[in-house]
Amino acid sequence: MGKQRILSGVQPTGNLHLGNYLGAIRNWVENQQDYDNFFCVVDLHAITVPHDPKQLAQNTYAIAALYLACGIDLEYSTIFVQSHVSAHSELTWLLNCITPLNWLERMTQYKEKALKQGENVSVGLLDYPVLMAADILLYNADKVPVGEDQKQHLELTRDIVIRINDKFGSKEKPVLKLPEPLIRKEGARVMSLTDGTKKMSKSDESELSRINLLDPPDVIQKKIKKCKTDPIKGLVFDAPDRPECNNLLTLYSILASKTKSDVAIEAQEMGWGQFKPLLTETLIESLKPIQDKYQSIMDDKNYLQTVLKDGQHKAETVANETLLRVKDALGFLPKF
Ligand code: AMP
Ligand code: TRP
Repeated sequence: MGKQRILSGVQPTGNLHLGNYLGAIRNWVENQQDYDNFFCVVDLHAITVPHDPKQLAQNTYAIAALYLACGIDLEYSTIFVQSHVSAHSELTWLLNCITPLNWLERMTQYKEKALKQGENVSVGLLDYPVLMAADILLYNADKVPVGEDQKQHLELTRDIVIRINDKFGSKEKPVLKLPEPLIRKEGARVMSLTDGTKKMSKSDESELSRINLLDPPDVIQKKIKKCKTDPIKGLVFDAPDRPECNNLLTLYSILASKTKSDVAIEAQEMGWGQFKPLLTETLIESLKPIQDKYQSIMDDKNYLQTVLKDGQHKAETVANETLLRVKDALGFLPKF
C-alpha cells in the first residue's frame, strides 16, 4: 500500500510565529517520512483581507523559505504556491455551487474576522473555507495537520465531501476523498504572551503578544521579560486561574524536548525571575538554526524558484486529475 497523503498550508501574511510553528509546521516536519506530503503557501487566502500588493510576493518567498528552514525535506514533500495551480480557484467555484450559504455564515473564524474588520468584508472572506476545502480535496488528502483553530474548517470540508459524494457519486465511486484533521494535543493552541486566554495570532496589534520565528535574541529577551505572568511562586501546569503559567511552561517543555512531568518537577519551586531566563535561552537556541537556514535560503532566490517550479508541476499533475474527475461527475462537456 502507498503512503497516505498529507496536505497543509500557511498564509503569506507577515511573519510566522511560534503558534504556527508548534501548532502546524513542526508536526509536518516530524512525520514527513511516513507520508506523501504537499505543503502550499496559500497566497489566495492572504487576499481575503485587505493586503499590500507590494509585499505579497516577498511574503510568499519568505513562507516557502521558512518551510525549508524548519526542516521540510524535498525528498518526502512538495512545496508549492497555491496561486500557481489554477485548479484551486476552479474547484472552489464548483464547490461554491454545492455549499449552502449558511454553512459559511456559521464559521467562527469568519465571524471573528468580520467583526474585527467592520465594514466592507469581502465575499472572499466568507468563501475562505471553501477555498481551503478545494486545497485539501484536490490532493485527495488523507490527513490535514493543523492547529486547533482550523478544526471547524476541516469539519466543513468533510461536510462538503459528504454532500458532493451523495449527490454526484456512489459508494463504489466517490467523487472526493474524505479527509481527517491531524491535531496534536501539545502546541495545538499556543497562547498570547500578553493574555493567556487568547491565542497567539498574526493579527494581534501588539508585537509583544507573540514570538516570531525570525525574532533576534534581544527581541526574544525583551518579549519574555515583558510577558504577562502572575505573582504566585511555584510554577504549575493546568491551574485554571493561571493560563499564562500553563502556556509558558508548555512552550518550555516542547522547545526543550522535556516531558511535562519533568518540567513540572523542575519548575515547582521556581519563581518567574528564575524561569524567564531559562525560557529565553531555550527559545533563542531552538530558533537559531531555523533563522540561519532561512537567511541562506532567502539569499539564493534561484534555488527557491526552482523548488517552487518543481512543486508547481508535481502539484498540478495531481490537482488537474481531481478537477477533471469532479467536472466529469458534475456532468460538464469535456474539452475536445
Ligand atoms: P495561519 O497563520 O492562520 O495561516 O495559520 C497557519 C497554521 O498555524 C494553521 O495550521 C493554524 O492552525 C496554526 N496556528 C495559528 N495560530 C496558532 C496558535 N496560536 N496555536 C497553534 N496553532 C496555530
Ligand atoms: N486556513 C488555514 C489557516 O489559516 C490555512 C490553510 C489554507 C490551510 N488552506 C489550507 C490549512 C489547507 C490546511 C489545509 O490556518
